[in-house]
Amino acid sequence: MSKILEIEGLIKSYKYSHLGRKSVTLALKGLTLDVMENDIFALIGLNGSGKTTTIKILLGLIRPDTGIFRIFGSENVNNDIKRMIGYLPEIPYFNSEFTPGEILRFWGSITGMEKGYLKKRISEVLRYTSLEHVSSRKIKGFSRGMLQRLGIAQSILAEPGLLILDEPMGGLDPKGIIDIRNLMLKLKKDGHTIFFTSHLISEVEKVADKVGMLGDGKILKIVEPHPDLEQDFLDTINQIGIPDVQ
Ligand SMILES: Nc1ncnc2c1ncn2[C@@H]1O[C@H](COP(=O)(O)OP(=O)(O)OP(=O)(O)O)[C@@H](O)[C@H]1O
Ligand SMILES: [Mg+2]
Repeated sequence: MSKILEIEGLIKSYKYSHLGRKSVTLALKGLTLDVMENDIFALIGLNGSGKTTTIKILLGLIRPDTGIFRIFGSENVNNDIKRMIGYLPEIPYFNSEFTPGEILRFWGSITGMEKGYLKKRISEVLRYTSLEHVSSRKIKGFSRGMLQRLGIAQSILAEPGLLILDEPMGGLDPKGIIDIRNLMLKLKKDGHTIFFTSHLISEVEKVADKVGMLGDGKILKIVEPHPDLEQDFLDTINQIGIPDVQ
């Protein structure tokens, strides 16, 4: 099995001004981890522990102070590599006047997908995410779970090998959580590699192959899911002292 994602010593500080005072937050203090092909890797950590920061760095949305990462073995995440990555943001946003079909058509065309292939993929991903029956309904009024499934449909449209999902189960009811869990397991079965963040430790336990515990800007521990994962996480976090909310 090859390494799909390699992160070595990522450090990231945010500099900002508040009421005329300059402050610095050190969000990542040397994050290192590997994600192997076809694994589901869960990054878990408290609020503000740096999960979204890690994802933004991987996507090239922000730059780390130092540290390196390789995606599909490449340190240079150029457009060819980006095309092999699907991304679900923490809060997916869609214009509510459009239908899922229109959203996916628009997304596929701006990302340069060929027309015939795009048409075929749109019907495939709508079926895959169980949104086929609402494909021509405006997304105004969609539940959080339906929007999340549409976000996943968008992220897998171009058949990327690596999926990066930021809190895919965030804000969902138990049925929505089960739907996303089953979808993630189906994606793994179909050969995808998934890197995702979560707070829902009981869910992480059911879906992940590897769990990275993030605290104090670093990976404190990487474990395979086990029935005492929640306690293990709390004990691990307690060892470093729970940081103040920033
Ligand atoms: N644009 C920014 N400017 C200043 N500080 C920031 C910025 N973005 C994030 N931070 C800080 O960096 C730290 C990590 O934030 P991040 O959003 O990565 O955490 P997270 O683990 O994703 O949290 P959550 O579980 O709430 O989604 C926090 O202290 C946060 O306040
Ligand atoms: Mg976050």
